[in-house]
Amino acid sequence: MTGRPEGAAATSELGRLIAHRIALTGPIPIAEFMAEALGHPRLGYYRSALHSGPGHSGTGPLGAAGDFTTAPEISQMFGELLGAWLAERWLAMGRPSPVRLVELGPGHGTLMADALRASRSVPGFHAALDLHLVDTSQPLRAAQRAALAAFTPTWHERLDDVPAGPLLLVANEFFDALPVRQFHRTAEGWRERMVGLGPDGSLRLALAPGLTPFAAALPDAPIGAEAEISEAGRALAGDIGTRLREHGGWALIVDYGYDKSALGTSLQAVRSHRGTDILDRPGETDLSAHVDFAALAAASGVPSFGPVGQGCFLRRLGIEERARALKRQASAEQTRAIDAALARLIAPDQMGTLFRVLALGDDRSAAPAGFSDTPSAPISPGAP
Ligand SMILES: C[S@@+](CC[C@H](N)C(=O)[O-])C[C@H]1O[C@@H](n2cnc3c(N)ncnc32)[C@H](O)[C@@H]1O
Repeated sequence: MTGRPEGAAATSELGRLIAHRIALTGPIPIAEFMAEALGHPRLGYYRSALHSGPGHSGTGPLGAAGDFTTAPEISQMFGELLGAWLAERWLAMGRPSPVRLVELGPGHGTLMADALRASRSVPGFHAALDLHLVDTSQPLRAAQRAALAAFTPTWHERLDDVPAGPLLLVANEFFDALPVRQFHRTAEGWRERMVGLGPDGSLRLALAPGLTPFAAALPDAPIGAEAEISEAGRALAGDIGTRLREHGGWALIVDYGYDKSALGTSLQAVRSHRGTDILDRPGETDLSAHVDFAALAAASGVPSFGPVGQGCFLRRLGIEERARALKRQASAEQTRAIDAALARLIAPDQMGTLFRVLALGDDRSAAPAGFSDTPSAPISPGAP
């Protein structure tokens, strides 16, 4: 191994297990490290109950006391408008029954609970729904069970296990948690960045000695350039596309990322709302990478719309009207909270531009609501 040595990062029980494995079998790609750090059956970030280290509440990674706050946890308006979007797509599909309603990585189940409450007045929609939740986290599944008990969901480890059929799928901040590989362009060609061991036995980043077989998937670039790809993300987008092509339906993917594939790397580590080294305390630190939406759309092989900014998408779906409706019954304090949440979700300097929304579907004839300027959200969320 040669290349960029990094400072030794603090470790954890999982970090010691990974180091032991590397000592026995050699350096591993960053994607493998990330898969272990997030998904190790006992100690992975999304598998373990705790995150109870310094600065953690013990209630899990999401929310003010955890490592990050997601859009559905900021305001009910987010899930409500996505629910209206899903119901409208179901009507456009010709009201199939049953329809598989799938959420990838539902977190606390907040988005889906808000979506289902907002769409309950659409005749026949709830009766047609067959709800499937794809999540590897047992503690978060317990939260989803509590939030969604009335809808008798079925849980799965992978999308592969969801039965075939017409599909409505939603994924918010899910693709950013899928493993990425990183590459560095040397004078000889592209080499993969690996996780190995430093002289003291601690985890270190370094370049693989040989050229990578992934070079064909990487662009020509000057010496010193960096690149990142998510094979897992592309494979999952391909599976979603196959289902949409074979059985019909729509998928809505919301995440932070970029519209066109570009050079550079984005993998970041966050613990208690603060950035840290990606090798720091594996299993206790969130790892995520910007989503390459162009790569997902291409890998799906089906018609795609967007990506558009989350702010633009939510405004087109009527978030400002929804905020006004909520404020009509709100106290002064609640009004301030609604305004703050609205700004957080749509303002360009907050989540409005960085977060992108991509739709995949079986029909390219007309853009779905939120993807064109035509006002096309016929279903408005119900009472607060
Ligand atoms: C960042 S959280 C987002 C939660 C939720 N969508 C929200 O917006 O609040 C990621 C979710 O995906 C789940 N998850 C992460 N990696 C996964 C994987 N490889 N397979 C299945 N679920 C995964 C986590 O357990 C968690 O529920």
